[in-house]
Amino acid sequence: MKRQPRSSPRSAKPRRSVSIVGTGSYVPEKILTNAALSTMVDTTDEWITTRTGIKERRIAAKGEHTSDMATKAALAAIEQAQIDPSEIELILVATATPDMYFPATACLVQQKIGALKAACLDVSAACAGFLFAVEIAQQFITSHTYDTVLVIGAEKLSSITNWTDRNTCVLFGDGAGAAILRHRGNGAHGVISTHIGSDGQYADILFMPGGGCRTPITRENAHQNLQTIHMSGKEVYKQAITAMLRASKKALDQAGLTIDDIACVIPHQANVRIIEAIADRLKIPLEKFYVNLDRYGNTSAAAVAIALDEANRSGRIKAGDYVLMVVFGGGLTWASTVIEW
Ligand code: UT7
Repeated sequence: MKRQPRSSPRSAKPRRSVSIVGTGSYVPEKILTNAALSTMVDTTDEWITTRTGIKERRIAAKGEHTSDMATKAALAAIEQAQIDPSEIELILVATATPDMYFPATACLVQQKIGALKAACLDVSAACAGFLFAVEIAQQFITSHTYDTVLVIGAEKLSSITNWTDRNTCVLFGDGAGAAILRHRGNGAHGVISTHIGSDGQYADILFMPGGGCRTPITRENAHQNLQTIHMSGKEVYKQAITAMLRASKKALDQAGLTIDDIACVIPHQANVRIIEAIADRLKIPLEKFYVNLDRYGNTSAAAVAIALDEANRSGRIKAGDYVLMVVFGGGLTWASTVIEW
């Protein structure tokens, strides 16, 4: 029996429905395998596979930037949605690796796709960014401000990876995913519930210390790899499981569903052991999870966006399915959403 979502605690008004009418993704051509990495740092395919599940990742070409990958993913989503770029009213790019501090990477995407009527901004919520952007988009749509929003998660993590640090460099990759969110009449399938959260008390377990106004990169500190990802892996691992479990339960509860109603879980793609732990604690089979981290590693804000597009285009999720997406990232940040596909 179809359950009724609980009304949002933030509003007593009936929700204006928000549908995902198109998805797209793009990954660079260049593949970096575990075997190739083991010639660069002291690691092995066996260690990376057993500790993370990652087999290979994609690396952007020289001169290929976050906005380029974002644009390719966006164009695929626009094509699938069968809309004209001029119909897009808001572009949100979730990224920790913008082309530049400013202008927003979203403005660069706007220029490249010709969506000249859109307002544009970047969303900074690290790996959780895509679902933060989905939440922002749906708030604008449910409030009747906009009808059509382009949401993108895009990262060129290879540009902030310390390629001499085996603790981190084996984990990350580049890519982009996109979705068109749109109001297409009340009663249409779409986003049922969303939840976002943060805990700045853990800001120092996953961060990039250099390059901001606090520690600009100078001639003196240029050799210290400050403009790269710094991570306390074990602590992030622990927090990730706690945050994703809590976020999953929140989105399900708000949707008025249980985990048994969910046909497919699309989790952040960081480590297959984290996904296994969540499957175990939620008591659902691992087969219900869409996993592609073996092919792409962790692409941060792009990860669930790419996975959503793959699950959509491959038929892994079908019309009427309930889909749970759940993510976590630096900040700490976490987010979840339940969608009726
Ligand atoms: O989007 C959010 C981003 N981050 C994450 O989600 C990361 C969450 N954390 C993790 O996924 C895991 O903690 C890691 C995969 C990062 C590490 O796995 P672990 O099981 O926690 O390993 P560890 O850090 O405890 O390291 C175990 C050993 C250490 O050696 P000793 O001290 O036991 O001798 C490391 O030095 O493995 C060593 N090690 C490696 N060995 C070979 C660490 N990295 C490597 C490597 N190859 N690449």
